[in-house]
Amino acid sequence: MKKIILDCDPGMDDSVAIIMAAKSPDLELLAVTSVNGNYPVDVTCANARKTLELIRRTDIPVARGMARPMVRNSPGDPFSHGRDGQGENFLPDPVMPVSSLHAVELIIETVKRYPREVHLVATGPMTNIAMALVKEPDIKPLIASIIAISGSFGLNDYAFLNATGDTPQSEWNVYVDPEAADIVYRSGIPLTALGLDVATHFDVNFSEGDVKHFRTYYNKEANFLARVIDFVHARGFEAYCAVIDCMAVGYAIDPDLVETIRVHVGVETKDGLTLGMTVADRRHHHVWKHLPVIAVGRHADYDRFLKLLAGLILL
Ligand code: BDR
Ligand code: CA
Repeated sequence: MKKIILDCDPGMDDSVAIIMAAKSPDLELLAVTSVNGNYPVDVTCANARKTLELIRRTDIPVARGMARPMVRNSPGDPFSHGRDGQGENFLPDPVMPVSSLHAVELIIETVKRYPREVHLVATGPMTNIAMALVKEPDIKPLIASIIAISGSFGLNDYAFLNATGDTPQSEWNVYVDPEAADIVYRSGIPLTALGLDVATHFDVNFSEGDVKHFRTYYNKEANFLARVIDFVHARGFEAYCAVIDCMAVGYAIDPDLVETIRVHVGVETKDGLTLGMTVADRRHHHVWKHLPVIAVGRHADYDRFLKLLAGLILL
């Protein structure tokens, strides 16, 4: 079993990702760490606990993390995850406790407890992870890898047509805290960034039949997912919006799901038109070699991903 920490900002798709990770027999979900992003951290922390209560996995600790980006104010989300941040499922208020450790401490402690075994799956802004690296740089070689829903690399139409940040070509998680993303991208830790190129591909789309099956199935998490998909459909979006973050969990389970390329990438941290852009230098010549090299998702086996996700939801 692969040990992971899921660092997230639930968020409807983060919530489905939590369910997927907690139910996967291939993953050991050591902790869920919450961060400011889609909503303020108190909401994302509560939503993480609501989700674990829904699937009766209150044994998994949930920590509250950073309340704002590293150096800037938090932007307002141009895309809505609903009044409750969970596609208007309106789950009951959580009763499970919040970890006594701050998310940054929990990440540091867990990585030290299991050196080179823990994979960080990041589905929100990278503020918690960057803070852990700044506070305790010695943990860098102890982190097995980071798998993130992060960036938009211009490898196909979806990269920019579905841009989620509030500048024309940025992805939300990077846009919210570009300085944090820059620290993580430059950290030297093996990083796989699954950007909008693959995570918002229109082929990540459950059929009407699938949604009906989820809606009428006997477990609560399937009904939860159906309501999230109904919510995004009602807003005129495709079903992929309900499960964007699940691709990072899918990749943690089965890295063959996504074909990646290794490429030099820089994160734009200057305000203005390009804030939050993840610029891939793919040139044959004159490449900016000082930019860090990371793995970037280029193509995914979308059918296989949907089967994996549906199988875990219906488990
Ligand atoms: C990211 O934006 C958020 O709204 C989603 O939860 C996902 O993590 C995609 O850009
Ligand atoms: Ca998210």
